[in-house]
Amino acid sequence: MTRLSHSKAKLILIAAALVLLSIALILFQPPSVSSSVQLSDSPEAIERGEYLVIAGGCISCHRGEEDAESFIGGLALETDFGTFFAPNITPDMETGLGNWQAKDFLLALKHGRTPSGSFYYPAFPYRAYGGLSDQDAVDIGSYLMSLEPINNSVSSAQTPAWLNRWAMAGWNLLADMNEVEFEAFDDELVERGAYLARNLGHCSECHTPRNAVGILDANREFAGATLGEDVIEAIDAAALEEWTATDLDLFLLLGLKPDGDFAGGDMNDVIEHNTSKISDEDRAALAAFFTRHNQPE
Ligand code: HEC
Ligand code: HEC
Repeated sequence: MTRLSHSKAKLILIAAALVLLSIALILFQPPSVSSSVQLSDSPEAIERGEYLVIAGGCISCHRGEEDAESFIGGLALETDFGTFFAPNITPDMETGLGNWQAKDFLLALKHGRTPSGSFYYPAFPYRAYGGLSDQDAVDIGSYLMSLEPINNSVSSAQTPAWLNRWAMAGWNLLADMNEVEFEAFDDELVERGAYLARNLGHCSECHTPRNAVGILDANREFAGATLGEDVIEAIDAAALEEWTATDLDLFLLLGLKPDGDFAGGDMNDVIEHNTSKISDEDRAALAAFFTRHNQPE
């Protein structure tokens, strides 16, 4: 090899490395988030946040193993991709959120990014919460920061060797590519129901099928899924054809199905902590969305 071609090869290698590095930088760079919304300690913001945390079903995952009332974390969430532990989201300095700022809540809830720029695993349904308004995400933060700090350490995620946090950059990219733009509804009630179902209430996390890498199949929204051994019913237009809005409303309030059966398993938990505690108006919005407008394209 001549001297010249040697240095040429070196240049090509350097150029290739630079291209890879810039792709990595673009992938790993935290998204920029609004700095115009701030955490607040006003009773109004905290009360709004508390309501949103109920409608978001956060306690289902973030409660303690033996303490169902506080957000101290520790529950093990078994998935096909490992076991994940919902963290302590009280403002404890050592084991909880510490002094999180508004931007940390926007990055975590809407983008699945940690304050230090790393990635959360999607066992935390940040793809659903990604559609939250900034104000809602920050009010949630204001509420969490108003809680009593409780010291409780939570185990770290147990994943197979090939799966690490940085791989979530690629996963997020794939999930973006699989995303479907949903039409907005003219009817305000139905539009509110869509926000509660698709975003805050994250109904898809259990009711929509996933592909081999765990990305939701948005083209088959609410078409039913499997979770480990459990089969989770479809709740799309076809599946709920016989249900009236009142049926669905009653189900989300009491767990009673039109055929007289009661909800079981994980749905019980959703009803107990989330849909039975939201306002009558919001429950009516969910019922309107599911019974009138969940037709796939
Ligand atoms: C389906 C279970 C589930 C639900 C529902 C859920 N989370 Fe989480 N959350 C998790 C898991 C699991 C993690 C940690 C993911 C990881 O290890 O990367 C997490 C992480 C977080 C974090 C980051 C904490 C830290 O210490 O870095 C915050 C903040 C958070 N969740 C807030 C919320 C809020 C607010 C809600 C409701 C709107 C919510 N979560 C609903 C499972 C859940
Ligand atoms: C944590 C997982 C999970 C989440 C989140 C969830 N569901 Fe369910 N859902 C289930 C399971 C499991 C069942 C089956 C319950 C049973 O066996 O009775 C179910 C059943 C149902 C049924 C009854 C279907 C039938 O034909 O009997 C409806 C309706 C329903 N869910 C609506 C919702 C709505 C609306 C949301 C969002 C606000 C939601 N679910 C969120 C797990 C979930």
